[in-house]
Amino acid sequence: MNLDYIIPNEWSIIQEGFVKENVTASESIFSIGNGAMGQRANFEENYSGDTFQGSYIGGIYYPDKTRVGWWKNGYPEYFAKVLNAPNWIGINVNIKGIFLDLNKCKVSNYKRELNMKEGVLTRSFTAELQNGNQVKVNAVRFLSLDFDEIGAIKYDITSINFTGEIEFIPYVDAGIMNEDANYDEFFWEILQIEEEKNEAYILSKTLKTEFHVSTGMKISFALNDDKIILDSEVEKSEKKIAFKYKTEVKQGDTFTIIKYGGYTQSMNHAKEDLISSSKKTLQKVANIGFDDLLLKQKESWKKIWKTADIVIEGDIKAQQAIRFNIFQLNQTYLGEDSRLNIGPKGFTGEKYGGSTYWDTEAYCIPFYMSTKDKNVAKNLLLYRYNQLDKAIENAEKLGFKNGAALYPMVTMNGEECHNEWEITFEEIHRNGAMIYAIYNYVNYTGDNSYIPEFGMEVMIAVSRFWQQRATYSEPKEKYVILGVTGPNEYENNVNNNFYTNYLAKWCMEYTLENLNLLKEKYKDDFDRIIDKTKLNQLELDQWKTIAEKMHFPYSEKYNVYLQQDGFLDKELILVKELPKSERPINQKWSWDRILRSVNIKQADVLQGIYFFENRFKIDEITDHFNFYEPFTVHESSLSPCVHSILAAKIEKIDKAYEMYLRTARLDLDDYNSEVHEGLHITSMAGTWLSIVQGFGGMRNFDGVLSFAPQIPKEWKSYSFKINFRGTTLKVHKSHDGSKFTNESETPIEIMVHGKKVVVSSNECVAL
Ligand code: BGC
Repeated sequence: MNLDYIIPNEWSIIQEGFVKENVTASESIFSIGNGAMGQRANFEENYSGDTFQGSYIGGIYYPDKTRVGWWKNGYPEYFAKVLNAPNWIGINVNIKGIFLDLNKCKVSNYKRELNMKEGVLTRSFTAELQNGNQVKVNAVRFLSLDFDEIGAIKYDITSINFTGEIEFIPYVDAGIMNEDANYDEFFWEILQIEEEKNEAYILSKTLKTEFHVSTGMKISFALNDDKIILDSEVEKSEKKIAFKYKTEVKQGDTFTIIKYGGYTQSMNHAKEDLISSSKKTLQKVANIGFDDLLLKQKESWKKIWKTADIVIEGDIKAQQAIRFNIFQLNQTYLGEDSRLNIGPKGFTGEKYGGSTYWDTEAYCIPFYMSTKDKNVAKNLLLYRYNQLDKAIENAEKLGFKNGAALYPMVTMNGEECHNEWEITFEEIHRNGAMIYAIYNYVNYTGDNSYIPEFGMEVMIAVSRFWQQRATYSEPKEKYVILGVTGPNEYENNVNNNFYTNYLAKWCMEYTLENLNLLKEKYKDDFDRIIDKTKLNQLELDQWKTIAEKMHFPYSEKYNVYLQQDGFLDKELILVKELPKSERPINQKWSWDRILRSVNIKQADVLQGIYFFENRFKIDEITDHFNFYEPFTVHESSLSPCVHSILAAKIEKIDKAYEMYLRTARLDLDDYNSEVHEGLHITSMAGTWLSIVQGFGGMRNFDGVLSFAPQIPKEWKSYSFKINFRGTTLKVHKSHDGSKFTNESETPIEIMVHGKKVVVSSNECVAL
């Protein structure tokens, strides 16, 4: 489906007109979140048509028993799943005996707007019910950034043509099932339902993991803007509590219901205090009131946009798209809690199960590092540091020893949650991304103490894994890594995937280099780490030898590293030669055909070239890009951004722009006809990279911050800001040149197109 109903706008996502077929797609697109929780844009009132009800709480998961066709030793027994949480947004409306249900009544003037500048979702429409009564509804909703356990709804309903009784039924429903459940089980146990006048709480706990959550609601009313008090009847069932309020309205009256709701949960409160904490928080926000809470919300988003915004002039769709990507990333993760992470679907759906993939390390860290305080990226690194023991256990289950760690392909709590052998056991390149992220962080922030304090233990454990995973090949007289899946998941069980081998070699070298540094400069940490890990000289010698003698398949004919051994045995069919009717190949071809084909799902060799671009000459980058991109189908959302960045590097600006459009409007235009399942949150960081590193040419190898701005002909100008070691630098590029503005008190030295430029404090340098 092409979502051409999304109206281009600089700061908002807007939909006008109600089309039932678009409901689930819009529920994803208009999702809201505040880093701690999030929800699909479900309607407040009941909707009997096709809908995907989804509310999610950061960090709360359920270990669903693995379901596979054929069990393989080493599979995790459970798959920790993002858990659909109780619904607190529900407000049913009954007008003279008929329930308001957009699936059953006539809807006109329908408009939804997700205001990204302010973090607010609004929906308005006129409905004519089956009994001819007409109402106008205006619903405003947001999840507070200031009080991240609550959200607020203001639901106005105006009688257009009748006088009579309206019944409002706000409720909390703790009986929501996961869309994604292996055995259709309900993952919650309801412990307690408590109510007072106009407020109610349901305490529930997750089975097995025993997360306790209190879901609360607190309600107040107004008639034509004057507060009123109504009596209610309580309707309670096993998993749900609802209040029924009745009121008489005259034609033209507007009745308003304000509903505060949200979750307090046991990761942040003692279990026995959950309901009382819920009460306190809801009372606090009710005292502030809806309007002031909304003002705070606007202020808080303003702070985020101050550094995170990217302005594109001359292309409104591109402008809308980049803001959508930045907005959704901030709705998903704000970086205050190192127990949370960024799921590929964030809080917008359940596909991909767990929350954390290598996407975080490979794609998201640079975004958070540049647009927020450095502690945000540090928290993402600490998440993995805190899960090191589980990564070691995970490797042990597969037969590795001596403290070798294999980080999971996907996880919630550190345990592996993936169960396809070709990925769980073979897509081991993810381990290298953990170390690359450490390198990236230290290099960018200059926080040199991270490695002695935390990073080195992870680096040693991962290097141990590579050492044990590599085999010495007598015929090649080289070390080889056999039976892997590279980032290109359209091939499995290959030998010597260039990207994997390159990362493995680099990890061991980088660990050795840093061990020497620690020995010199952080002796206490060095001694502590050696003592803790029992690292010995023999291991270090082995790492050195393996790194030196790592095998990389190469083609003299094409002057490129081969994706893996035997890559050129394939029939070299370019993507442009494939009939349109056969695309996307993952929906049209048998898996067997995909595996044998030369077509590549996402950047693989090019992912390596992107990470280590400073080690390749420009001609080499060009040769590799020209060779691999034409075989690539970009059927992972993570693919176009890397290609966009490299295309800009080799000055193929049109290609860079084409790839940029694919990543930026992937969800807004629903390129892959799957947006109803949720948004592609992690690839949104890739979109940001495509502008900052792609068009802006920002690089940070060896601690030097450099730029090489270019601009697509379709745009008039663009600008972005980055935080770099305490300095905020604004980069503006138009067809007339580039401007660099230092918005802080300390001067900054940068390289622009290879030349040194000093930008003094509060100064703008135009080039
Ligand atoms: C990609 C992986 C990625 C995962 C989650 C897959 O389709 O191939 O690289 O980690 O999606 O985004």
